[in-house]
Amino acid sequence: MNALHLPNAEFRSLAARVTDLAADLLAGLDELRAFPAVRAEQVARAFEAPLPEAGLRAGALDALDEVLALSRAPTPRFYGYVLGSGEPVAALADLLASVLNQNVTAWRSAPAAVTIERQIVRGLAGALGCPGFTGSLCGGGSMANLMGLAMAREARLPANESGAQPGVVYASSEVHMSIPKAMALLGLGRENLRLIGADESYRLDPQALRTAIAADRSAGRTPLAVVATSGTVNTGAIDPLAEIAALCREQQLWLHVDGAYGALAALAIPEQFTGLSAADSLSLDPHKWLYQPLDCGMLLFRSAHAARMAFSCTGDYAKSLAEDPLEAFAFFDESLELSRRFRALKLWLSLRYHGLAAFRSAIRTDLRHAQSLAELIRGTQTLELLAPVELSAVCFRYRWGEPGAAADRLNAAILRRLIERGRVYLSNATLRERFALRACFVNHRTTDHDVGQIVPEVLHAAREVLGG
Ligand SMILES: Cc1ncc(COP(=O)(O)O)c(C=O)c1O
Repeated sequence: MNALHLPNAEFRSLAARVTDLAADLLAGLDELRAFPAVRAEQVARAFEAPLPEAGLRAGALDALDEVLALSRAPTPRFYGYVLGSGEPVAALADLLASVLNQNVTAWRSAPAAVTIERQIVRGLAGALGCPGFTGSLCGGGSMANLMGLAMAREARLPANESGAQPGVVYASSEVHMSIPKAMALLGLGRENLRLIGADESYRLDPQALRTAIAADRSAGRTPLAVVATSGTVNTGAIDPLAEIAALCREQQLWLHVDGAYGALAALAIPEQFTGLSAADSLSLDPHKWLYQPLDCGMLLFRSAHAARMAFSCTGDYAKSLAEDPLEAFAFFDESLELSRRFRALKLWLSLRYHGLAAFRSAIRTDLRHAQSLAELIRGTQTLELLAPVELSAVCFRYRWGEPGAAADRLNAAILRRLIERGRVYLSNATLRERFALRACFVNHRTTDHDVGQIVPEVLHAAREVLGG
């Protein structure tokens, strides 16, 4: 018997314990703090035991209670960053995906998984108003952005054989940090990312974009691509996609749309995403606004040929012998990844279980919650909004004289206090050099009642900071 053998009865019993833990966690979420009251030292001590030489058997699971206690639970009152809430049907699918352990490299190693992933990618593209787009799932928006820009580079300034040539990429000053990271990794260089000033609504200004492209051309540089963001990470601003797309067509630039935060909201409010289908490549993050458990990113593209130009480099051992085009299909020809988990199973099961209408409705609820919070903030004397609320991110601050270091310090202290209080979790953003408190609604568990607690909690934290 192999030393790792697990009798089936033991698997059932462990699985029952794990699902009980998960179900208890879900049942008690409303009572839990939005962030555990723990310090790093305590967490480090909890897990400092060396790895055992002899297995603990079922006793190994005893420590899971502590893992849960020292984790940030997916509560209804978590509004930090852009973090989806982890839909539980999808979580069950993740368990099965791990047991099935498909390597979703190519049809020949994972027939059902490859077929489901291709079907779900096409289906979501169609539902977002981008029919005919294909693509693949990946680890997240950062990976999707890297792959989108790799496609742009290979399509406009081929680099795969002899190395990167200089080229300029344009984006608004609100672009996500994964774009400069991709510029660096692709050998294009962060200095060749031209950050165009955003307008008062934090959107890329197409006129300023046109001017920047012309300036680079007349200085002898080569414009390569534009990254438009549909849902900036700070404020949820949607760049004017249709105008930017027209400019890209005129200037023959690749258009990559970073829709990691916002573009899935096109399922609910398509009218705000006009021009999305003009993208050459589009990043999405179902682990954000489709509430999927991490990880679940997606890159869509218009041309599978362009994806293959960027990524196909097949070693003989992986070459397919099939003649049927479906059976010969390999994701590694169109993606950076080779070994890939069966991410599509969670998305597919969760969408089948609830139906697209339920996801549209959950997104609409998030949008409504953001507007209600904005309204509640406007109703106070002491808080002020710092940006328009276009999607589900609300940036605001406690008023404290003129904007400046003192106001920033106070708001940072309020945020720390708020998180210590544990009822509500917000994160922060920097807007025009001002420190902002930021709530982002991509949480299917949040109720109207939860939203109603945010302003009182912030005011309470402010009183404690000012009083202390
Ligand atoms: C606009 C935008 N792009 C890209 C990303 C990166 O996504 P991920 O964290 O999945 O890599 C984020 C994350 O918040 C984002 O908001």
